[in-house]
Amino acid sequence: MNIITTKNYEELSKKAAELVAQQLQQKPNSVLGLATGSTPLGLYSQLIKLHQSGQLFFKDVVTFNLDEYFGLSGSDEHSYHHYMFANLFNQLDIASANIFIPDGLIPLTEIKRYCFDYEQSIIDHRGIDLQFLGIGNNGHLGFNEPGSSFNSVTRLVDLSANTITANARFFSDQNLVPRQAITMGLATIMKARKIVLLASGIAKAEAVRQAVVGEVTELVPASILQQHRDVTLILDPDAASALK
Ligand code: GLP
Repeated sequence: MNIITTKNYEELSKKAAELVAQQLQQKPNSVLGLATGSTPLGLYSQLIKLHQSGQLFFKDVVTFNLDEYFGLSGSDEHSYHHYMFANLFNQLDIASANIFIPDGLIPLTEIKRYCFDYEQSIIDHRGIDLQFLGIGNNGHLGFNEPGSSFNSVTRLVDLSANTITANARFFSDQNLVPRQAITMGLATIMKARKIVLLASGIAKAEAVRQAVVGEVTELVPASILQQHRDVTLILDPDAASALK
């Protein structure tokens, strides 16, 4: 694992944006895996700046998002669809046909087929070149909660109580946080050619420590990253603080 500890969140975001720029320079039609949550917001602002100043173009880029709340429509302001368009896509030159985000309104009867197709669609695009990840306080990746199989693929999952509490800050009432989500699996994530995990803040320090130097166990989903050939962690000093 390549670990970069930056001075602060702004530098973390700039470093992450640099990695996107390098990737798109080498391959303008790259397939990017994207994450939500508060951590990648700085990266997304940097990408918008680079695009608006004519330094970075997304015309040929394809994106796959990690996850979406189950039961929320894409127009719901709490959905990850809404988040992605509001915080990134609306400001870029990306083609809407190249944007893939799980659909939170797929009927239960069609969900297996839908998740299979999502997985297949990644394969049809020749796989993810560069996957961005955040990390949950409990070590989750996407919505792969502790106990998720390392062999898991895109599927419907239940959110843990810990995640519901952690994500309640985005909702006016904890009872409004969806209890389920569609998420890429850990095996889906591990197939990406390169992975970059971003973590900021003291609340992530223990999860980062367990992911980097802890036992590789399904109880800490992010620990699977120790088995990937090309992982970079970009951390701020607080998130890195338990590593020493
Ligand atoms: C959610 C997302 C994850 C994300 C995590 C951490 O649960 N499904 O993909 O990594 O939140 O979010 P934050 O960056 O807000 O701490």
